[in-house]
Amino acid sequence: MLGIYVHIPFCESKCCYCSFSSFVKDESFINQYINFLCNEIETSNLKNNEIDSIYIGGGTPSLLDAKQIEKILNSIKNTFTLDKKCEITIECNPNSINFDKLIKFKNYGINRISLGVQSVYDEDLKFLCRKHNVKQVFDALDNINLAGFENISVDLLLGLKNSSFDKFKNQIDILLNKGVKHFSCYMLQVEQGTKLKMMYDNDSSCILNNENCVSLFQQVSSYFNKLGFIHYEISNFALPGYKSLHNYKYWSGEPYIGFGLSAHSYLNGKRIANAYNFDKYFSNEKEFVELLNNSELIEEHIMLGLRYEGGVDINYLNKLGYDIMQNDNLKKYLNQNVIFKKKNRLYLNEKFYSVNNIIILDLI
Ligand SMILES: C[S@@+](CC[C@H](N)C(=O)[O-])C[C@H]1O[C@@H](n2cnc3c(N)ncnc32)[C@H](O)[C@@H]1O
Ligand code: SF4
Repeated sequence: MLGIYVHIPFCESKCCYCSFSSFVKDESFINQYINFLCNEIETSNLKNNEIDSIYIGGGTPSLLDAKQIEKILNSIKNTFTLDKKCEITIECNPNSINFDKLIKFKNYGINRISLGVQSVYDEDLKFLCRKHNVKQVFDALDNINLAGFENISVDLLLGLKNSSFDKFKNQIDILLNKGVKHFSCYMLQVEQGTKLKMMYDNDSSCILNNENCVSLFQQVSSYFNKLGFIHYEISNFALPGYKSLHNYKYWSGEPYIGFGLSAHSYLNGKRIANAYNFDKYFSNEKEFVELLNNSELIEEHIMLGLRYEGGVDINYLNKLGYDIMQNDNLKKYLNQNVIFKKKNRLYLNEKFYSVNNIIILDLI
């Protein structure tokens, strides 16, 4: 079945590390955007297809009024056929949700909340220029629980200055007690054009160095394992029954459609990106449409496969004309148990998840 991604490119302000497509805009512009977005959904040439996951991401989707979210969901429901068990996720920031809004989200069929916590320490939140504090994180989680959501995910950032395993472990424990079932832990990246990049160029010790960050990540992964979490993708840990169905589609190469500014779709080996700026988007232009050739399909499969628990399908690569078993780097990694083979699939040993990029590059 298909998944749908909807991009809401608005935020209250820009966090110092973020290079995602998000802008600070006024209410009338936001309404204009939503009208255009709903029209894009309703005129989709994939009308009536069955959908089993919807992900409303951003930016900050929870910045919108509940009514605006309802309008978007109605457009989807009127255009596509929703599976009874459709996973519907919305990304929320702690300071833009309250109990009333959450109850409305629940009534519209939203059944998964992804909360952008980043850290439960005020000094970290200040450093990241987040608009919320720790108290708002806890209030948000209380309200999410009170509103009856049980599929709760949080995003955390790893690699902040002064982080330590004890500090990180403590925040995992606190969040677990608040009913969190899924953690996305991202190693902080210094992106071009961000305030963090300027700070880092001035003083690279403003964040944890790579070596310490990798070591912290490994300790955090082991702790999640001990707690019974499944490390099912490099940055994602879930209690049994709480993996993200939607994100799984991205990693396993299943089809999805993206609506909204800069949203990507992947359909029948074709990657389509909506325009990255509003003027082009409002003129229905695409940023690019690429039909992946064999070598791109091979690269894509290795890159995605080694990043998640699904692994790399050796037969599929053979069909595309690549006998990966003849790759000398692979032979070396198999000997060193960095990669292991089970039936006809290759998997990256979890211990090496944090250095996956180097290993993947050696294989393509
Ligand atoms: C694009 S945001 C959208 C969610 C929401 N607006 C928020 O910030 O909580 C999704 C996640 O990407 C992660 N992210 C953004 N910039 C990042 C960076 N430079 N390095 C690592 N993770 C980053 C953050 O953890 C964030 O929660
Ligand atoms: S991290 Fe989230 S809230 Fe911050 S600017 Fe990026 S999208 Fe917006």
